[in-house]
Amino acid sequence: MNGKLNEERRIKILKELQNFYNKDFTFSSGRILGSMCTQPHSIAKEAYIKFLETNLGDPELFPGTKEMETKLLSFIMDLLNAPKSSAGLICSGGTESNITAIWMSKKLTGKSEIIVPESAHFSFEKIGSLMNTKLVYIPLNKEYFMNTSELKKMISKDTAAIIGIAGSTELGTIDPIPELSEICTDNNIFLHIDAAFGGFVIPFLKELKNNITDFDFQLKGVSSISIDAHKMGYSAIPLGALIIRNKKWLDEISVTTPYISSNKQAGLLATRSGGPVAAAYAVSKYLGREGYKDLIKECMTTTEYAEKRISDIGLNLVIKPTLNVLGIKLKNPSKVVKKLTDFGWKVNKMERLSAIRIVLMPRVTKDIIDNFIPDLEKACREVGEL
Ligand SMILES: Cc1ncc(COP(=O)(O)O)c(C=O)c1O
Repeated sequence: MNGKLNEERRIKILKELQNFYNKDFTFSSGRILGSMCTQPHSIAKEAYIKFLETNLGDPELFPGTKEMETKLLSFIMDLLNAPKSSAGLICSGGTESNITAIWMSKKLTGKSEIIVPESAHFSFEKIGSLMNTKLVYIPLNKEYFMNTSELKKMISKDTAAIIGIAGSTELGTIDPIPELSEICTDNNIFLHIDAAFGGFVIPFLKELKNNITDFDFQLKGVSSISIDAHKMGYSAIPLGALIIRNKKWLDEISVTTPYISSNKQAGLLATRSGGPVAAAYAVSKYLGREGYKDLIKECMTTTEYAEKRISDIGLNLVIKPTLNVLGIKLKNPSKVVKKLTDFGWKVNKMERLSAIRIVLMPRVTKDIIDNFIPDLEKACREVGEL
């Protein structure tokens, strides 16, 4: 094909791509308020593109990318106070990290049941179906976290793992993880903490505020933690990590790899891009722990501001928020979500709680909240909520 035709084809494809893109909501518009992702920090894009062709499934071809991954994991492990014996795996996000943790706990124990709070993310339902695992759901108490009295009754000889949530998907609640840690230590049970959302919030919030529940490896009963950089780590999709207390446990989820340069591979995926790893590494270097702390401070200030504005128009929250997630109680959340979509806003409905969710992510500013509140009020009036 000659150069002119090539160029014409390129322009045509880019135009078509632009048309697809134009149909999307964008984080940069400030109109997405319900998502746990956001437009990544600007350095993430540069880093991602630079490592586009790398494959961490074949690390001996990309030793530099592998070194970067190890450094990123060290940053995350430090954040979670992981001991020297620990190890980490980069995953595509919370779902894969949770799957991998339960896969490991089942292999370690040979047991088939996992105990989860009712607030658990739907990835655990997938786990139930994928790995022939029985899910035992524990009801929540009035603060919307796992009721530990009920939990104690449901522990059995078949329990492979107990799951605690540090930053629930619906309301950002943190389960009583110190108590779960004791229960799991006493009963010798694997304790997995799903901190996909809270992992990049709670360590910094603890430096800013008292009374934030402990959730990490400082609690000796905690066996593994899921944490996502593509949520509050301010980085690009897909990037999660699973950190485990004992690196020897990796053997349970490893296979030999006869056709590639390394001999063994742990985890679910084989071919995977170094792009998201580079993005998360660059953001973590750029911000450092101090930068993340400032970011969390800002998110929490905006959360408090939004909380006040919502209450000023006469709406109630499901609970006082711990993290930067607000659940607004409504009679008919679907109708309000539909109206808000008509007004150009994207928020999430939570039918189970009869509420809608707003997540005050790093790029959600007070100005955006000032634009949103009159539309929220109007939407609620039009459907008879106010
Ligand atoms: C607590 C929690 N765990 C797991 C997940 C799943 O993460 P991902 O969508 O990255 O697979 C989410 C997603 O919102 C979550 O909030």
